[in-house]
Amino acid sequence: AHAKACLAAGSSVVIEEFLDGPEVSLFAITDGRFVVPLQPAQDFKRAHDDDAGPNTGGMGAYSPLPWAPSDLVEEVTERVLQPMIDAMAARGTPFAGLLYAGLALTARGVRVVEFNARFGDPETQVVLARLQSGLGGLLMAAATGSLDTHPQPVWSTDSAVTVVIAAQGYPQDPRKGDAIGGLEQAAEVAGVDVLHAGTTVSEEGEISSSGGRVLSVTAKGANLHEARERAYTAVDLITLAGSHHRRDIAAQAAAAHSTGG
Ligand code: GLY
Repeated sequence: AHAKACLAAGSSVVIEEFLDGPEVSLFAITDGRFVVPLQPAQDFKRAHDDDAGPNTGGMGAYSPLPWAPSDLVEEVTERVLQPMIDAMAARGTPFAGLLYAGLALTARGVRVVEFNARFGDPETQVVLARLQSGLGGLLMAAATGSLDTHPQPVWSTDSAVTVVIAAQGYPQDPRKGDAIGGLEQAAEVAGVDVLHAGTTVSEEGEISSSGGRVLSVTAKGANLHEARERAYTAVDLITLAGSHHRRDIAAQAAAAHSTGG
């Protein structure tokens, strides 16, 4: 009734749909005609545990998603990614590159929250950690319009978890210039890669923070439980004054699926 009254008064009306399900990110590489979906991941956008605190660019991520429907990638490719690429081609504005679908898995089915034309951070860290075949060849095939003949990507059955170490004050007012320690010890933990995001190195070789999200500590393991343990073992070896990170990345999924995936 309110919307009708607004319309009668000559106003426009926007109706928003409440999306009640968990969020999932699914990236696809496309040459403008063919779509090659990567693996789904989930990120954690709030600054603190239990989804408390301000929104951020992402404080951690994991893949695969053992709780997600087994046909999720197929369904999203069929209902979201391929139709979007087809529609853009039909409009005369074909898109080749990385299409990022931010999705909500609601009780009424999959909904698109957002599209980005880039890899997502930090989901990419866990998706690429599980990619066993080359990424460069896929990107070249996308750039040269030959994805239809390019071999499909090969995925590890391992799980991957990444934990972001953020600077004091992130996201509102990140402090820069703090010395970072323990990087070498952290990188020695089995299955761990410490990826640098907001760091800088001095002429003397000392590494310090230079951004809000400073490091992304990524670990692979046979399952989410092992990947988490490795990631947090490495995180605990790193020192950065005033920094903060979440302790619950992938915790629920690992607890619910402790023997596999
Ligand atoms: N992790 C969210 C983004 O990259 O937009």
